[in-house]
Amino acid sequence: MIILSEYSRLKYSVFFIKQMNDDRDCDIPDYFRGEYLETVMDSDKKGFCRLYVGMGEAEPEIREIREAVCCAAFIMKEKNIREYQLDLSAFYKPERMEVLSAVAEGICTGAYDITMPGDIKKNMPSVHLYGIIKEKTEEARIRLSYAVRLAEEQSWARDMVNAPGNMLRPMDFAREITEHTNKLPIECEMIVYGKLKTMGMNALTSIGGSSDNPPVLFIMRYRGDRDSDQVTGLVGKGVTCDTGGYCLKPAAAMMGIKGDMAGGAAVAAAVSALAANRIKANVTAVIPMCENRISSSSLVPGDVIKSFSGKKIEICNTDAEGRLILADAMSYIVRNEKVDRVIDIATLTGAVAGTFGFTTAGLLTDNEEFLGEFTEAYNKSGERYWRLPIFKEHRKMLQSKIADIKNIGKDYCGTITAGIFVQEFAEGKPWIHLDIAGTAWCDEPLSKGQPSGATGAGTTSLYYIFS
Ligand code: BES
Ligand code: ZN
Ligand code: ZN
Repeated sequence: MIILSEYSRLKYSVFFIKQMNDDRDCDIPDYFRGEYLETVMDSDKKGFCRLYVGMGEAEPEIREIREAVCCAAFIMKEKNIREYQLDLSAFYKPERMEVLSAVAEGICTGAYDITMPGDIKKNMPSVHLYGIIKEKTEEARIRLSYAVRLAEEQSWARDMVNAPGNMLRPMDFAREITEHTNKLPIECEMIVYGKLKTMGMNALTSIGGSSDNPPVLFIMRYRGDRDSDQVTGLVGKGVTCDTGGYCLKPAAAMMGIKGDMAGGAAVAAAVSALAANRIKANVTAVIPMCENRISSSSLVPGDVIKSFSGKKIEICNTDAEGRLILADAMSYIVRNEKVDRVIDIATLTGAVAGTFGFTTAGLLTDNEEFLGEFTEAYNKSGERYWRLPIFKEHRKMLQSKIADIKNIGKDYCGTITAGIFVQEFAEGKPWIHLDIAGTAWCDEPLSKGQPSGATGAGTTSLYYIFS
């Protein structure tokens, strides 16, 4: 539970402190410098306990506020302190939505334990926020309730990504989203294997058909803006288990393959948060869900399939399955759902982590205006994205001699060719492609308190496009 309170009265408090000059508050221990994420805990004679978290010299960015709060929540969790207060007065305009959202996200992240979907509420500490001036508290209270809901949805995305592959099959994934959004104004639809086959969704069915757990195309429709007929499409990769297929992944690369549905989870969580907060937006999400396994019917390199769009695809690597299922989902969302613009988000290439490491996701687009909107959105969320170019030389790399396109490029720039492959199915609609293979999962915390495993990447940035 996260609430606003007007006074500080609890036994445990957290203070965020700028790097020290000489005018120090006499309560703060003199060895504390206030360096970024430096922490010290101290208690006074009356037994009131204070945790100081350093914020460095400059005005903190959203990302830094989130990290500092996360660090504090983590320390409190480690000490088994279940109720405490945070002084927000150190932050510039603490009543801003982005600040409250970063605070809520920081608390949920620091307090997070790997659980099954839905357990986050059980682990949540009771946190009281204070330090917002009285004239601003009413608006802050409303914003905080939105921010908390967004952070909870992000935790839900994390839960789904952390769920073991054998406990979250494509059908379980679909059911989880249906149940989770059951009371929200979202229309959910599921297109099952048999129907997908008759529709000609061969790119999805030929990957998903490699498993006894059949593929599903999951659709979510949220119409929160009656004044507009514009609809934004979101497509999220939902591979619940990616073994690589016949181009089998090496054993050492297999841990984490259950997280290959993080794009789908982010899309579902963002739509869920938009609907829960009744944000004025019209969004349709499509999540192709499947496993990528080996069976006598699996694809092998050299095969050619006819996608839903009619384009023929030469399969050169069965581990490049994400772009195949995204291709059919993309054609479907553009043709059948008639969206006006579309974002796809996916754990698509190892190459993106080779380029940007684990802090920054790759971005490709063909539309500057849409990019402008998305840039504003991800700046609010504090996530990092970086644009990669699309040149005609890159496009050439996907040319096939026996089909319309190949499913892998030449060596290098794998993130670019993967993105361009998906773009080929967007039919000219304004398009943004997000490759979160580096940011969706973390084996080692990038800053103190970040839980290992799923990060919930993408959820907040997608949400902020509309709010
Ligand atoms: N899901 C993987 C990408 C991935 C790799 C995600 C590492 C998270 C961590 C994707 O399906 C894949 O296997 N991509 C291949 C493409 C290659 C065969 C062109 C890759 O990146 O190696
Ligand atoms: Zn793969
Ligand atoms: Zn994959």
